[in-house]
Amino acid sequence: MSSKTDFQRQMKEKVEDIEKMLQEYLPKQKGYQSVIMEAMGYSLMAGGKRLRPMLMLETYRLFQGSCKAIRPFMAAIEMIHTYSLVHDDLPALDNDDYRRGRKTTHIVYGEDMGILAGDALLNYAFETAFQAFVTDPQDSLLIGRALGVLGKKAGIYGMIGGQVIDVKETGHVVSKEVLDTIYVLKTSALIEASMMIGAIFGGASEEEVKKVEKIARYVGLAFQIQDDILDVTSTEEVLGKPIHSDEKNEKTTYVSMMGIEGAKKIVEEYSASAIDLLHQLSGKNEYLEQLLLELIHRDR
Ligand code: IPE
Ligand code: IPE
Ligand code: MG
Ligand code: MG
Ligand code: MG
Repeated sequence: MSSKTDFQRQMKEKVEDIEKMLQEYLPKQKGYQSVIMEAMGYSLMAGGKRLRPMLMLETYRLFQGSCKAIRPFMAAIEMIHTYSLVHDDLPALDNDDYRRGRKTTHIVYGEDMGILAGDALLNYAFETAFQAFVTDPQDSLLIGRALGVLGKKAGIYGMIGGQVIDVKETGHVVSKEVLDTIYVLKTSALIEASMMIGAIFGGASEEEVKKVEKIARYVGLAFQIQDDILDVTSTEEVLGKPIHSDEKNEKTTYVSMMGIEGAKKIVEEYSASAIDLLHQLSGKNEYLEQLLLELIHRDR
């Protein structure tokens, strides 16, 4: 396994590649509506960790894929994720005014444009993904399968469904079962979509895609619980978003349910489960494995 500094260097390069690609897919600012393209770029290019496109690409590499259609899907998943953050921060939801190290979209462009910029990113994600039919018609079957996964995992049976339960269950204690449902939907779903789409374009069988979905479910659970931990242990400067947002919004989290140490243990357990299942697949991708390990102790 490569050393930690080697990993950090590789990660930096991968993030730079993804950002270059996102910039290419962003719509040009033109027309009387150009403010919306500006707001889309403001939120998308603010510098997140780019975890979802990275997981998509690394899963694709695990299966030794060679299908160019993956590129627009990498852009699409980051657009959908970014829209989910723009809407998550709105006054009607978590009411946060800082994200990815800058003022949130609704603070800079107003609540109206914040809502529309989220809508625009969601729609443009599908416009971008559909382009793959034009650029790579020979992969139409895989593109169709990938679109099915993207739509479902982003929607009412996925991320949106999770946000709905999260909002509905605010202000009171919720059971572990409901909390897990919220996390699997609001956070795992987009990570499942990322890794499943990577597997699909990598040429994985239905059965392998199902295994990848399971891995991603654990990755997402661990990721959200670590996010809960950072909400109380980090600083706004490091995190790039406000701390104590969950307490402000009276959210039940793994931290409120079992304390920081208890939550940390669960992050390790879920991550170990993900890596165990990863080992059961026939391919190998050391970077992906190390990425899953690094996420356990991430500080933002
Ligand atoms: C934040 O996601 C929302 C959660 C699901 C916890 P990230 O922590 O991946 O946010 P960015 O993309 O790095 O800004
Ligand atoms: C949000 O969970 C998950 C989304 C689908 C956006 P949080 O509300 O905990 O995410 P942060 O902490 O604001 O990034
Ligand atoms: Mg939220
Ligand atoms: Mg939030
Ligand atoms: Mg959070």
